[in-house]
Amino acid sequence: MAGAPTGVTAIVGAMDVEVAAVRQALTQPRLITVLGCELTAGQLDGHPVLLAESGIGKVNAALTTAALAQAGAASLVFVGVGGSLAPGVKVGSAVIATTLVQHDVDITAFGHDPGVISGVLAGGEASPALSDALAAAAESLGATTHRGVIASGDQFITSPDRAAAIARQFGAVAVEMEGAAVAQVCTRLGLPFAVLRWISDSADTQADTDFGQFVQRIAQLDLAVIRGFLAISEGEINGSNTDIQP
Ligand code: ADE
Repeated sequence: MAGAPTGVTAIVGAMDVEVAAVRQALTQPRLITVLGCELTAGQLDGHPVLLAESGIGKVNAALTTAALAQAGAASLVFVGVGGSLAPGVKVGSAVIATTLVQHDVDITAFGHDPGVISGVLAGGEASPALSDALAAAAESLGATTHRGVIASGDQFITSPDRAAAIARQFGAVAVEMEGAAVAQVCTRLGLPFAVLRWISDSADTQADTDFGQFVQRIAQLDLAVIRGFLAISEGEINGSNTDIQP
């Protein structure tokens, strides 16, 4: 659908280093504050975008997602790092979420399944179209990509036992701290979204050191994958919302 009107794509990362290069590449940047969140409206390679650094954790991610929706985002892409939960998912590869679930939601004492509140998954399913575009962008950079469940919680996982439990309980291949909150809010608001995590560590006792080393590379990786994503998805998935509301 080349030539169709494209909407505003929200680009989100948790930490400054995850969005810094994207921020620097924006043209016509304009700061706006919505729901107490500082967002940058601008253009990336001619595409209208809204950029946000959410802060770490699920509450920050949920609030930022709501702010981006209110500011006029037509779709949302979350990029950043994650820990591997599967032996075949190596440091440096990319995991693109199919489904996201909050691994620390636990009311099993009352007979609910883990990660479920009132029969509803605390998370959501990513848009296949957006996820395909993200995967294609990562592959065009030479990255190995995986698709699967990503589990989110307000914990940096550094324990093989805990990592194995999350993998087993949710069938998850990667763990991080924001994606399922984004997914839950986007699902409630009907906002299509996708999540990509570059694997920085294996959620084991070395995770903090591995994370610290890998994170140096993340700014450029995120910028490259977002550029590829916008080029690939142009005109196909964003609907027609081109207005950024102040
Ligand atoms: N993000 C990157 N690595 C992680 C880990 N081990 N646990 C939670 N979030 C992460």
